[in-house]
Amino acid sequence: MTGTVPTELVGCDLTDPQTYLGTDVTALWRAFRRHSPVHRHPPSGGLPGFWAVTRYADVLAVYRDDERFTSERGNVLSTLLQGEDSAAGKMLAVTDGHRHREIRKLMLRSFSPRVLARHRESVRARTSALLAAAVREERFDFATRVADHIPINTMGDLMDVPEADRAKLVEWNTETLGSRHADGTQLDEVLARNEILLYFSELAEHRRRHPGEDVISALANGSVDGEPLSDEEVVLNCYSLILGGDESSRLSATGAVVALAEHPEQWRALKDGSVGLAEASEEVLRWTTPAMHFGRRARTEVQVGDQLIAAGDIVTLWNSSANFDEDVFAEPERFDLARTPNKHLTFGYGPHFCLGAYLGRAHVEAVLEALREQVAELALAGPGHQIRSNFVYGYLNLPVSFRGEKR
Ligand code: HEM
Repeated sequence: MTGTVPTELVGCDLTDPQTYLGTDVTALWRAFRRHSPVHRHPPSGGLPGFWAVTRYADVLAVYRDDERFTSERGNVLSTLLQGEDSAAGKMLAVTDGHRHREIRKLMLRSFSPRVLARHRESVRARTSALLAAAVREERFDFATRVADHIPINTMGDLMDVPEADRAKLVEWNTETLGSRHADGTQLDEVLARNEILLYFSELAEHRRRHPGEDVISALANGSVDGEPLSDEEVVLNCYSLILGGDESSRLSATGAVVALAEHPEQWRALKDGSVGLAEASEEVLRWTTPAMHFGRRARTEVQVGDQLIAAGDIVTLWNSSANFDEDVFAEPERFDLARTPNKHLTFGYGPHFCLGAYLGRAHVEAVLEALREQVAELALAGPGHQIRSNFVYGYLNLPVSFRGEKR
């Protein structure tokens, strides 16, 4: 710690979604890194206190250490503060050790380079078609017209969901995120999640009899230590792909447009080909950091940075701060599509490193490619509607005004 912690940090409530709305969050994280890099967040509203880790090196150290930190008591603030995650020990992200490695291996079987290359092509084609249809109107909502439809369909491809059921899946999934929208309720959310789980359970039953190359078949016919996975494990892990991949990818795609509109020189660099798509998409992923944090619980007493963490303590890891750490990134607050190296922590690190990172990158690259090819002039046409969450960051709506390239 460097000196006394400023009062605005002591009083800052990281559990409150409002903290991330309309605030200069970059400045907030800069202050945390500087004055209280492993910060003791006080208990509030009957919920326990927790540690907030904001420097890159400390965040990385905790991510890689699954011996001393567990994911089985939750891996995001909401579940960590409740003290448990009902999917613990069954769903990949909240399972530790041997079982985690085995389920991960099973799922990775359906992520072979050949299969992924096919999915990547579908992502490109779908993104290009969605943007082409929207650009004809010039003014439209980029989030709802384009970004919202890309990743959910990739998940559909991964699980080989029949085309005719895709729209239903999109609709249910939008409802599961209902309380983040102004008009949704928690009941709608629970009902929609149950519909998705039931749907996957029926699909899994079918794939046991008719296996394919998809991830549901891999899970439904796979076993760990000679025992088949339970129905619940199959269904939860299918659902976890949607949980992990849908919203985060949509937010990074929409965030890409905001960043390009606000940095016209970077938009020009993308347009004229002076930066490549791969490096540009890494910078978009760093800049947007859609999953602001993940977290763990300490299994034993452990030192993190300058603080001694007690066994059982909750430790939250702020990617949104680590990705802007001046000790690692030169001029971190500059959006620079040509940035290399760019070892951001947007996909986490270590044993739980994002299973869908390849596809997450493919989504952003496809959006940048389609914008570069099809859009001559890009501008925002009003303020976006920011998501209310202490976990994810970005825009649910984004009115834009695009002038298409002459064809
Ligand atoms: C794990 C972020 C896209 C599926 C993670 C983790 C992060 C992350 C930070 C680590 C969680 C932890 O350590 O507790 C993102 C971001 C994405 C993205 C920012 C998009 C920009 C995807 C996609 C999929 C996916 C497209 C599915 C195809 C998963 C799964 C895990 C995971 C299943 C758990 C891995 C494990 O525990 O071994 N993701 N993700 N993610 N992600 Fe992603």
